[in-house]
Amino acid sequence: MEKTQVRLTPEETARQRAFMDKVRAMGGTRYCKVITYGCQQNENDSERLLGMLEAMGYTPTEDNEKANVILFNTCAVREGAELKVYGNIGALKHLCARRQDLLVGVCGCMMQQEAVAERIRRQYRHVGLVFGTHSLYKFPELLYECLTEHTRRVDVTPSDGRIIEDMPVHRSGAPCAWVSVMYGCNNFCTYCIVPYVRGRERSRRPEDILAEVREVVARGAREVTLLGQNVNSYGKDLDCGVDFAALLRMVNDVPGLLRIRFMTSHPKDMSERLLVAMAECDKVCPQLHLPFQAGNDRVLAAMNRRYDKAGYLALVEAARAHIPGLSLTSDVIVGFPGETEAEFLDTLDVLARVRFDSVFSFIYSKRSGTPAAEMPDPFTHADKQARFERLLEVQNRISHEINQGYAGKVCPVLVEGPSKTDPTALTGRTDTGKVVNFPAGAARPGDLVRVRITQCQTWSLWGELES
Ligand code: SAH
Ligand code: SF4
Ligand code: F3S
Repeated sequence: MEKTQVRLTPEETARQRAFMDKVRAMGGTRYCKVITYGCQQNENDSERLLGMLEAMGYTPTEDNEKANVILFNTCAVREGAELKVYGNIGALKHLCARRQDLLVGVCGCMMQQEAVAERIRRQYRHVGLVFGTHSLYKFPELLYECLTEHTRRVDVTPSDGRIIEDMPVHRSGAPCAWVSVMYGCNNFCTYCIVPYVRGRERSRRPEDILAEVREVVARGAREVTLLGQNVNSYGKDLDCGVDFAALLRMVNDVPGLLRIRFMTSHPKDMSERLLVAMAECDKVCPQLHLPFQAGNDRVLAAMNRRYDKAGYLALVEAARAHIPGLSLTSDVIVGFPGETEAEFLDTLDVLARVRFDSVFSFIYSKRSGTPAAEMPDPFTHADKQARFERLLEVQNRISHEINQGYAGKVCPVLVEGPSKTDPTALTGRTDTGKVVNFPAGAARPGDLVRVRITQCQTWSLWGELES
């Protein structure tokens, strides 16, 4: 297999650092805002963008009026995500006309689609900087050019992005941190745009990942979530003989770390070795996000998922046998082109058989350039919406029933911060990933506390601190 892992060279890193110094030397009080759409991988990229901005002398702000740089880090996975971005960029037109000192930039997955980058270039003249996921590392240089030459900069090279190490990353110091273990995807599920906008799989070297895990722990993290579009194929492009199971064991040995989660696992690459590693590593949470997408074999084949319903169910059984009390979550698509009522019932059947803790469900969204966009699709949006609502009803009932099982239990909860709904309460998660709110008492973010569950709702639990 062709080796695609390309680490950014020390020369290139030094070059970008020199641009950061130049921007910093421009001086003055400057503010920045990064708006993130999409998945955790994008959140992680935004931490890198913010890290670079801070190193260039910018202070983060939420206030558009104050910001000197506003960056939209976009997602292309569904049309809805894209429409939101267009609307929000358009809304800044007047502010830009009024403020010569404001630079609006658009980056991320949407910009790796030629037609979309072109639309931004033509129709959104107030956008001064456009770059794709593959040019992320060049941000300091692009920003410097925008600021000094007062021209628009567009960099949407189609080549696979290089792996960035040794560049600043903004760390919130929060108890939970994201750490990417790999970038890109090789799977080409027929509905999905990700392989086109993120390029081929590229794994980070284990020592770089471990160094980052140690660093986030030193800054206060107690839990890390290892990220990749398909972590189960981690390491296949490296020559060091470390697969994801081995990587988990290495991360498990990092002192000071309490919990490890990871996502996403593709069922076709889920190995016995990984299940054994999950069971044996004390810090790895008993939680598995295992998207099944559809329950019908014809639909799964048309999606190019490369497993069938029986195979998926067998995998769930094996996972549960290895990891007692395993919490399972999944992603599902409703209304893939040509999916019939009978085929949809197979999806409901998987929900009923597996009884996932929760499911992220999506109505199929046509992504131009993907094979599914060319498939006949006789069903209307209303048909799909109706099925989607039936699916939600089934899953919400199951999630509610599973959560009821927590009543009266005492669970270890890693405290994340103040509750969103009640400022006198704290919020955290069980090892199975359930959100738990409870009156704060003496607990602080980062503490691992014992909480007795008193109330169980579909999406979260309430409890009281055990002394
Ligand atoms: N790599 C991950 C998920 C990436 S995208 C995986 O393979 O599981 C996150 C989820 O978005 C997918 O699991 C899928 O359920 C959904 N998704 C992707 N493309 C979509 C599309 N065109 N329409 C609707 N949902 C989509
Ligand atoms: Fe998309 Fe499939 Fe890759 Fe996930 S595995 S990112 S759904 S192509
Ligand atoms: Fe969206 Fe890109 Fe993630 S398309 S889901 S932000 S990889």
